[in-house]
Amino acid sequence: MEKKPKPAFYITTPIYYVNDVLHIGHAYTTIIADALARFKKQAGYDVFFLTGTDEHGQKIEKAAAEKGLKPRELADMVVGRAKDLWKALNISYDFFIRTTEPFHEKGVQKVFQTLLDKGDIYKGTYQGWYCVSNEHFLADDVPLENDGTKICPECNVKATVVGESSYFFRLSAYARPLLDFYEKNPNFVRPQGRMNEVASFVRGGLKDLSITRTTVKWGVPVPGDPAHTIYVWFDALHNYLTGIGYDWDLGKFEKFWPATIHLIGKDILRFHAVFWPAFLMAAGFKLPVCVYGHGWWLKDDAKMSKSKGNVLDPYAILKPFGPDPLRYFLLREIPIGNDGNFSHEGFIHRVNSDLANDLGNLVHRTLTMVRSYFKGTFPELAAEGADDRKVREGFERLQATVFDHYSATAVNRALEEIWVYVNTVNKYLADNEPWKLAKDPAQKPRLARVLYQAAAAIRGITYLVYPVMPGSAEKIWDFLGETEPIQKTTYSGLTFDGLKPGQTIKEPVALFPRVDLKEFLAEEAKPTVPVKPEVKKMEGTMDIISYEEFKRMDLRVAHVLKAEKVEGAQKLLKLQIDLGTEQRQIVAGVAETYKPEDLVGKKIIVIANLKPAVIRGVESAGMLLAAVVADKAYIPFFTDDLPAGAKVK
Ligand code: MSP
Repeated sequence: MEKKPKPAFYITTPIYYVNDVLHIGHAYTTIIADALARFKKQAGYDVFFLTGTDEHGQKIEKAAAEKGLKPRELADMVVGRAKDLWKALNISYDFFIRTTEPFHEKGVQKVFQTLLDKGDIYKGTYQGWYCVSNEHFLADDVPLENDGTKICPECNVKATVVGESSYFFRLSAYARPLLDFYEKNPNFVRPQGRMNEVASFVRGGLKDLSITRTTVKWGVPVPGDPAHTIYVWFDALHNYLTGIGYDWDLGKFEKFWPATIHLIGKDILRFHAVFWPAFLMAAGFKLPVCVYGHGWWLKDDAKMSKSKGNVLDPYAILKPFGPDPLRYFLLREIPIGNDGNFSHEGFIHRVNSDLANDLGNLVHRTLTMVRSYFKGTFPELAAEGADDRKVREGFERLQATVFDHYSATAVNRALEEIWVYVNTVNKYLADNEPWKLAKDPAQKPRLARVLYQAAAAIRGITYLVYPVMPGSAEKIWDFLGETEPIQKTTYSGLTFDGLKPGQTIKEPVALFPRVDLKEFLAEEAKPTVPVKPEVKKMEGTMDIISYEEFKRMDLRVAHVLKAEKVEGAQKLLKLQIDLGTEQRQIVAGVAETYKPEDLVGKKIIVIANLKPAVIRGVESAGMLLAAVVADKAYIPFFTDDLPAGAKVK
C-alpha cells in the first residue's frame, strides 16, 4: 500500500536585523516557533521551520559604518552570534536564510520584474518622512512636532524628509481584494483583535507604496536600473519564498508554500498582513494561511528594545540555567497574544515552584523509588484500583486537551493543564504513600502498581512538555529506560501504558535545582570578573581593563586552510582561515618562525572583530594571537579537535 504523504506545515519567524545582538524579545519569537514546530512533528506533519537575518538597508549600512566595518562584515559577525544563540536555546530550525545570499537576491529581483511587467510597479517621485530605525515612511497622519519635524510613533526617533525618484507598488489597487480576502479568511490574522485592527486600517484606504531607494547603496539593485535599490521590507518579506526554494528548489517550494503560519511580533503586523499579501496577490502566489502577531516582552513596563536600553541578554539566564527554564517561563507566563513584564523574581518563582518542586520532584522521587525498591524494573503489578484508574484516565483527557491547546497556539494553556495533572500525580503519591507500602513485603504488587502508575504518568507528561522543554524531556525519556528517541513516538501513538513494566529505569539526576532569588540577583549584579582596585599591574603591562572591555574582543578558533608568503615582505605570511561560518584572509608577521606548510591544518586563535586593514598591499580581516619573544612570534596551537569558529574567552 502506498504511504499517505504527511501534511505540510511551514512556520517562519521574522528575519532579524543584523545591526545588533539579539535579546530576549527576539528569542521569544524563535522559541514559540520552535515549540510549535516540534509539536507539529509529533502530530505527524512534515515541518519546515525557517528563520534568518535581514541584512540590507540603511539601518545596517549606518550601524556598520559606526563600527568601522563593511555591512557584510557586520552581518557575518551577527549571524555567527545568532546561530550560537539559537543553538544555546535548542532551536531546531530547518534553514537559516540570509537576505544577502545570491539566490535570495535573484528571487526578489524576479518578483520585482514580474510586477514591473504587469504594471503593478511603476516609476515616480516620492517625498515623505522616513524613519531609519524601522526603515519605513511615516503615515501622513503623524503630526508635526513644535520644531517642524516628525517623530516615528513606533520607534520614538526623529524621522527625516526623503525625496527621491522611486518605483511604487500599486498598493491602492489591492485594498478591495485584501478586504475580500480577510472576509473569506477571518483567521488570516490572529489573535482576532489584530485582524480587526488590520481590516480597519485597510478600510481607511491604501496609498501606493514607494519600494525603492536611491539613497541606500546596501540593497538589492532594481533589475535594469541599478541606481535604485529595492526597499528593505520588499526584499525581506520575500525571504519566506526564497527560504523554501523559490526559485532554486521548486519541488520544496511547491511542497511547503503557502506558509501555514508567519509568527511575528505585533510591531510588524502591517507589513505582514497588508503589504505582504498584496505583493503575493499581485505576483500570483497563494497567500499564507495565518499571520500570528504575538505580544511584547516588556522590562519595567516598556518594550524591550536597544534604543530604550532595557534589553535583557538571554545568556544571563542561559548560562546558569540552560535553555529549558527560559523556554518554559516565556511560554508559560503569558498567552502568546499578550504583552508580559519580564521579572527575575517571576522567573525564579517559576523555576523553583513549577520546575524544581512540582515536576522535578515528581520525576526524581518516583524514579528513585523504582530504583531502590525494585532495582529499576517493575515486578508483577496489582490490578488497577479506582484511584489508579483516575491517573490513567486523567492522562488520556490531558493528552486530548493539550493537543487542542497546542493546535490553537495556546501554549500557556497547554502548560497550565499539564501542571494541574503533574500535581494530581504528586497528590496520588502523597495519598498512596509508597514509602510506607515498601515496609510491608505483602504489599509489593500494590507498591509496584503505584510506582508504575506514577512513572507511566511521568512518561506521558514528558512527551507533552517536549515541544517546550526538549532537552529536559529527552533526559527524562532516557531515565525511563526508553530505547527509541522521543521524536520517534507520534502523538497518536502515545499511550499511558507505553511504559513497559520490563524496561529498566535509570538513576535520575536532578534536572531543575532550586535557586535562591537573593543569591541569583546578587550574582547577576556582580561583574563577571571583579576588578579590584588593589590589583597591581605587572611590570610593562598596560592599563587594567574591565571584563566588559575584554568581552568586546571576538576571539575565535580558526582553522588554517592555506598559507603563503607575501611577496617582498620577509616577515609576513598570508593565511586563508576558516571561522566556521565563513572563510577569511589574514596577514600575520610570523614568517621568521614558521614556514607556510608549518601552519596549514593548524588550529589557532584569531580576533575576528578587528577592523580590517591593508598590510603591504594585502587585505587582512583579523589577527592571530602569538607570543613575541626576541622579535619572533610563537603561535599557540590547539591540539584538541575543536570546531572552527568556537569562542575563546
Ligand atoms: N527585520 C525585520 C523583520 C523582517 S521579517 C520579513 C525586524 N527585525 S527585528 O530584528 O527588529 O525583529 C523583529 C521581531 O523581534 C519582532 O517582530 C518580534 O517578533 C521580535 N521582538 C523584538 N523585540 C521584542 C520584544 N520586546 N518582545 C517580543 N518580541 C520582540 O523587524
